[in-house]
Amino acid sequence: MIVVHTIKELQDHLNEHRKSARSICLVPTMGNLHAGHLQLVSSAQQHADVVVVSLFVNPTQFSANEDLGNYPRTLQDDIDKLSSLNTDILFAPSIAEIYPLGGDNTTHVHVPGLTDILCGATRNGHFDGVTTIVCKLFNMTRADVAIFGEKDFQQLAVIRRMVRDLNIPINIIGEAIVREADGLAMSSRNGYLSKLERKTAPVLYKTLLSVKQDVLNGQNDFETIEAHAKSELAQQGFKPDYLHVFQRDQLRPAVLGDKELVILVAAFLGNTRLIDNLNVNIA
Ligand code: PAF
Repeated sequence: MIVVHTIKELQDHLNEHRKSARSICLVPTMGNLHAGHLQLVSSAQQHADVVVVSLFVNPTQFSANEDLGNYPRTLQDDIDKLSSLNTDILFAPSIAEIYPLGGDNTTHVHVPGLTDILCGATRNGHFDGVTTIVCKLFNMTRADVAIFGEKDFQQLAVIRRMVRDLNIPINIIGEAIVREADGLAMSSRNGYLSKLERKTAPVLYKTLLSVKQDVLNGQNDFETIEAHAKSELAQQGFKPDYLHVFQRDQLRPAVLGDKELVILVAAFLGNTRLIDNLNVNIA
């Protein structure tokens, strides 16, 4: 695996691959890689000849009160994991390389509407930071394909919309959530949980499963189901941010007759904000 830190080095390597007509897949990450990320890399290898993983803890997607300073940075460990998977290129730039004029002074990409709801309602500016860095990475790599985890369901929807709205010539692939044995969705933020919180955390997924069962049993008063699930979570020690049953493709509240649904949840456990989601298909 080649590790590069500058855009110039990255592009020099990719241009060589392009001369041989090799296709390129980008896997954007913020590092601290777990089995979910490694699944993205394996999937990327099925979709293109050359796999580039980017590792950049992007400051513009964290607001002032969030965990930018504490976000786990484990570069050597990440390099070891990616090399063992035969990743082709790791791009690990500095902040100055990405935002030479500073994050606040850079042109940014804003996807309207979709970014005002769910996580966007409380994480001010978060999705603008995500779309800006992802658009920059797409332009730096000119990748044919990019892969994102479905755990960040809204992020994936926002990126798909950006690609469509800006006619970016890239194919976006969503990869299924990878879970721990007890059902907890893998996330770098799980490392923040205390032992006790870690024991409680799988309740989030169990709540999604129980809402799914309610919906499959024919309950269709979604607001009541949501309120009930949120109060269950609160009883178990979570501070729920939202739990919604949404129509999957349009990412809007589900209404009677919708068949392809997704249940989305965000909740704090102590100081750690966890998110998860689960698809429901009504026959
Ligand atoms: O999902 C993430 O890890 C980040 O939001 C991403 C897509 C790498 C952009 O910084």
